[in-house]
Amino acid sequence: DWTMKAYREEAIRLIREQVGDGHVICGLSGGVDSSVAAVLIHEAIGDQLTCVFVDHGLLRLNEADEVVSMFRDHYNIPLIHADESELFLGELEGQSDPETKRKIIGKLFIDVFQKHANSIEGAEFLAQGTLYPDVIESVSFSGGPSVTIKSHHNVGGLPEKMGLKLVEPLRELFKDEVRALGRELGLPDSFIGRHPFPGPGLAIRCPGEITREKLDILRLADAVYIEQIRKHGLYDEIWQAFCAILPVRTVGVMGDGRTYDFACALRAVTSVDGMTADYYPFSHDFLGETATRIINEVPGINRVTYDITSKPPGTIEWE
Ligand code: XMP
Repeated sequence: DWTMKAYREEAIRLIREQVGDGHVICGLSGGVDSSVAAVLIHEAIGDQLTCVFVDHGLLRLNEADEVVSMFRDHYNIPLIHADESELFLGELEGQSDPETKRKIIGKLFIDVFQKHANSIEGAEFLAQGTLYPDVIESVSFSGGPSVTIKSHHNVGGLPEKMGLKLVEPLRELFKDEVRALGRELGLPDSFIGRHPFPGPGLAIRCPGEITREKLDILRLADAVYIEQIRKHGLYDEIWQAFCAILPVRTVGVMGDGRTYDFACALRAVTSVDGMTADYYPFSHDFLGETATRIINEVPGINRVTYDITSKPPGTIEWE
């Protein structure tokens, strides 16, 4: 794609021009955006880049290991794996308000970054995989006032507080353009095609209080659901799919016993840019088979619902 080839060359030129012989820290989340940013910057300045992967304990099943092996082992990009799950989950304990949860996570991210930035000799720049839709923090509904729906975890305050200059090579791009750029940079298709994953991670898919128990249940349910979607060949038709664990236990019956376990909600949407979305019209067979599998394979869940809300009026994530 000539457009992305040109964009890549121009972006590399701009990164070199901005950074000079300075050192860049890049926050890696494991998602497509920060990964494309990291590979692009690595191509521009090589070992002047150090990636910091903050593991907040809110990642999906096996996700941390996959990120580390891809960047450190496959791409040879210097990577600090900061396992800070104790810290994050400790601070989140007892918190159930969505904005409070987002703010706690955002603030801890800054703290953790500062800690690691200070450990990297001479770091001057902070790279982020911020996209154009992330830049538009406020959404204006037609006729209504401009309101902030959710405080975004990956923008605002971070570089100033750390005394670092910002490098945001994806700032003008929409999601599909980032994917094209990633392909241009040689990232594997399976990785490029991954659904977006939010900075606050599973925290915003666990409405109400976050506990380790709920997170473990959620990870397993989500893995079964995504496996079902892949098995049925639907993954690439869907913009984003995930499971949310609901803050409610419901009564069920299994074998000849009573159960009293959590309910979960499956979410799957189609979208162009994440700004608006429609729920995905799964067949009843698919939904039935998936519900049966989750209930049989995930201890702690005894009820499965499918979220058929579009955006607007819903948002894609539950918080
Ligand atoms: P909502 O829930 O606002 O989500 O409809 C739109 C898209 O943005 C993702 N999302 C986030 N991504 N940091 C991110 O990097 C965040 O704080 C955040 N909140 C939502 C969400 O997964 C969806 O793709």
